[in-house]
Amino acid sequence: MSRVRFDPAPALKGAVTAPPDKSISHRAALFAAMSDEPVSIVNYLDAGDTNSTLDALRAVGTLIEVRADELLVRGGGMRGVEEADGPIDVGNAGTLMRLLPGWLAAQEGGSWTLDGDDSIRRRPVDRIAEPLRMMGAQVVARDGRFPPFTIHGSHLRGIEYEMPAASAQVKSCVLIAGLVAAGETAVITPSPTRDHTERMLRRAGVDVRCEDLRVVVGNVDELELERVEVPGDLSSAAFLVAAGVLVPGSRLVVENVGTNWSRAGFLRIAERMGAVVVGDLEDKPPDIPAEEPVSDLDVRAGPLVGTEVEPDEVPLAIDELPLVALMACFAEGDTVVRGAHELRLKETDRIAAVVDGLQGLGAEIEAWEDGFAVTGTGGLAGGVLDARHDHRLAMMGAVAGLASRDGVEVIGMDAAAISYPDFVDDMRALEALA
Ligand code: S3P
Repeated sequence: MSRVRFDPAPALKGAVTAPPDKSISHRAALFAAMSDEPVSIVNYLDAGDTNSTLDALRAVGTLIEVRADELLVRGGGMRGVEEADGPIDVGNAGTLMRLLPGWLAAQEGGSWTLDGDDSIRRRPVDRIAEPLRMMGAQVVARDGRFPPFTIHGSHLRGIEYEMPAASAQVKSCVLIAGLVAAGETAVITPSPTRDHTERMLRRAGVDVRCEDLRVVVGNVDELELERVEVPGDLSSAAFLVAAGVLVPGSRLVVENVGTNWSRAGFLRIAERMGAVVVGDLEDKPPDIPAEEPVSDLDVRAGPLVGTEVEPDEVPLAIDELPLVALMACFAEGDTVVRGAHELRLKETDRIAAVVDGLQGLGAEIEAWEDGFAVTGTGGLAGGVLDARHDHRLAMMGAVAGLASRDGVEVIGMDAAAISYPDFVDDMRALEALA
């Protein structure tokens, strides 16, 4: 396992292009596979999780050609899924594990088993099994709720599903199943979640109806996607933004970042903490658009103050909350995050891993069942951080090191390849230009 040291940096300078969005890449590949006509995907993320999606789709009969400047995906249409030779390996990809079953569940007569790495085997699938069963699917999971699990395709009927927790993955799974089910399917989320599925389905010609927290789709014959251009990933860009804000003297630009309002919660929290990040952020549109907005983000280092993150904000910044914890260590005053129990169900238990990891670097941080509280001390000493095979923990440790007093050694930096394979190189390039 790779151990990489990040020493305190004098400043970070320069411009970096954000890597392609992981969430949107997964959806682009899956919806392309569900299309009748070939689909060109430009700027698809070449990383661990999204390559797992390509392999999984190939395993069920999709042809995928990797060209120099695009992926060309030839699927088999809404019902064109082939049986796989063995279990489909989702690797470390929770989004793949939650979205693909929505499509498979409606393929009458077929059955598929999904399995993945050790982390995936600890992540619950009952959250998708329950609504899929209500629609008529058969899902058999280890101990009733963990991978490996088998989906037996059945005739599905539309449902009205009120989700117990705000999860874009579960919402997306039910909407995808709804495209191949009889009648209409409605999903109601307790608070807003990322809307990439709805936008891309609109782009593919689907009549997606949204009223506040309720999204409705009906049965469709085909998706008409043709071409998708994936914007830069705000969740990956967030590590660069945090580094630019925390390392004194920094000024950097992150180019081509997706600024969909339902993903940009981190930037709003960072701004509240006093971070100087200039960019064109999307306001919540009255109706769901078919496009994803992008902007460059111009970041400057500066002082921060603590903040309170409310439960409704959590799904809009879920993957960036480790960075909120890190930034809070450098702020003046207290920061509190509540209503984030979902963090315990990510690649690792991210409340425990963030709190243990930052405590090990000298932070004053305390874990709660559904969040954490940080007492800002204006800085962080440093030390060793075990990423626990979690890409976002590894990158948080790297940023902590560059902004710390004594440096941080990250155990398991290779995990960054799940979402951002060039992360260390990009950081080193920003250091070199200072
Ligand atoms: C994702 C949704 C989020 C997020 C994950 C990707 C998606 O999960 O944490 O990294 O692509 O829909 P939940 O919505 O299930 O919390």
